[in-house]
Amino acid sequence: MSILVTGATGKTGRHIVRELLSAKEKVRIMTRHPENVGPQPGLTVVKGDLTAPETLSEALDGVDTAFLFPVLPAIGPFAEAARAAGVRRVVLFTGAWAAGHTARDLGSWVLPRYRAAEDALAGSGLAEWTVLRPAPFATNALWWAASVRDEGVVRLPYPDAVCPVIHEADIAAAVVATLLGDGYHGTRLTLTGPALVSQAEQVAAIGEAIGRPLHIEEIPAQRWRADAERFLRPGIADDLLREWAETAKDPSTALPLLSTVTELTGRPARTFTQWATDHTADFTAA
Ligand SMILES: NC(=O)c1ccc[n+]([C@@H]2O[C@H](COP(=O)([O-])OP(=O)(O)OC[C@H]3O[C@@H](n4cnc5c(N)ncnc54)[C@H](OP(=O)(O)O)[C@@H]3O)[C@@H](O)[C@H]2O)c1
Repeated sequence: MSILVTGATGKTGRHIVRELLSAKEKVRIMTRHPENVGPQPGLTVVKGDLTAPETLSEALDGVDTAFLFPVLPAIGPFAEAARAAGVRRVVLFTGAWAAGHTARDLGSWVLPRYRAAEDALAGSGLAEWTVLRPAPFATNALWWAASVRDEGVVRLPYPDAVCPVIHEADIAAAVVATLLGDGYHGTRLTLTGPALVSQAEQVAAIGEAIGRPLHIEEIPAQRWRADAERFLRPGIADDLLREWAETAKDPSTALPLLSTVTELTGRPARTFTQWATDHTADFTAA
């Protein structure tokens, strides 16, 4: 039997695939662009689209366990198709806002959307399901890559905003732990990084990693929001701005630090300094 990984070509998914292959698992990945994936021992590549349920049957063939990438409207139909195809276990990630750890998160735009997707998985009749809810990803700092490379500048509002951002390799390690381990059925677990890090500290860590001091240009929230519409849904941009405004003013309102990554993986979560070191090429290559 194989483990199906969706979102496998993405920033988090590629770590999931790497870890599963190192554990000698048979891995099947589903992508909309199989022509972009090179052959690897133990890996089967299948063409499919989460938003087109008719493309899922080939991906689910011979699959016992699956990681489901959060294309939200597709969660229910995928879970139904997986159950019908005899899949036993599905692991999904959504986001920490779904947990409602803070009053701000309870009123967020994204919470009901994440919860509806999680509930569609939970109600699908699958024998086993698990939801992981990662904190904002350290990879969000890649939004700054072009201006860092070109100008040595990061333009952002609320440089003092803090968050326990999480390394995508830790999200992947937690996904792999729940794909392969027992005892997580019916659980929804929030994942955080090891420390609260401000946006200014993130910029400094990137500068340190690439050996180039970086300048922060503080911009008004509304200018950031207008720019962010190129890559974020407006509701998520508003949720982020609210979080940044509140945590910049009062860091005690940030998402609490949790030890879930260590409990699942047996290792402490990676620091943002580690993330910056792992991503120097993103901030230096042309
Ligand atoms: N950024 C945050 O702070 C944060 C926090 C919580 C949750 N999240 C969630 O995490 C996601 C980003 O994760 P990431 O950075 O690992 O992803 P990513 O690098 O943006 O990669 C996206 C992946 O999703 C696949 N995909 C997208 N649409 C698909 C579809 N219709 N059918 C099949 N595959 C599809 C892509 O596969 P192909 O292109 O190969 O088909 C690709 O592998 C966000 O979308 C969000 O839902 C983000």
